[in-house]
Amino acid sequence: MAFKLPELPFAYDALAPHMSKKTLEFHHDKHHKGYVDKLNAAVDGTRYAGMALEEIIRETAKNSKERGIFNNAAQHWNHAFFWNCLSPGGGGKPEGALAERIKADFGSYDDFAKAFKQAATGQFGSGWAWLVLDGGALKVTATPNAETPMIHGQHALLTCDVWEHAYYLDYQNRRPDFVETVLKELVNWKFVAERLDEQGEDLETMQKVAAGGRR
Ligand code: FE2
Repeated sequence: MAFKLPELPFAYDALAPHMSKKTLEFHHDKHHKGYVDKLNAAVDGTRYAGMALEEIIRETAKNSKERGIFNNAAQHWNHAFFWNCLSPGGGGKPEGALAERIKADFGSYDDFAKAFKQAATGQFGSGWAWLVLDGGALKVTATPNAETPMIHGQHALLTCDVWEHAYYLDYQNRRPDFVETVLKELVNWKFVAERLDEQGEDLETMQKVAAGGRR
């Protein structure tokens, strides 16, 4: 029983020119696969071997000695989640209930976008920018390295990977341009709206994005 690298929910060239085939081949087939392979090797023969991915993340987050397992488990979850946050023909402004929630909690879509871009560009070094549900309110956050909102009791709705491997081939050092393009051209608002509907049901919803899938 091992964790399995989920397939991308779109073709490798489907997000070009905003995110190139080459970037996705490296990011998914090398980086994400690397986290899955290292996670499988690290949990083999341990008490974590039979656990669901979210359980491993929550358990290892409490123990600094388990940092290696935590990093690879959380990066597996974060990447599986990130792929689902992207869509060909995505981006722009959300509609319906999600748009109303964003307006209620941030003032306007533009205020949300500004906060998200600030979080993404302000994250020093590697990490992630997030839109989360925290205690019933939408919030924008950033996390360093592999850190993931579930360990803070937050329900992730949207993320943008701001590790250099996510954008360097297409944007070199221009992280702000990458984040701007993700918001304008790639965000899968349908997925984000589904996450908002599901709220705290992380364990079940991640079955859907196949992160917890075992072969
Ligand atoms: Fe990444």
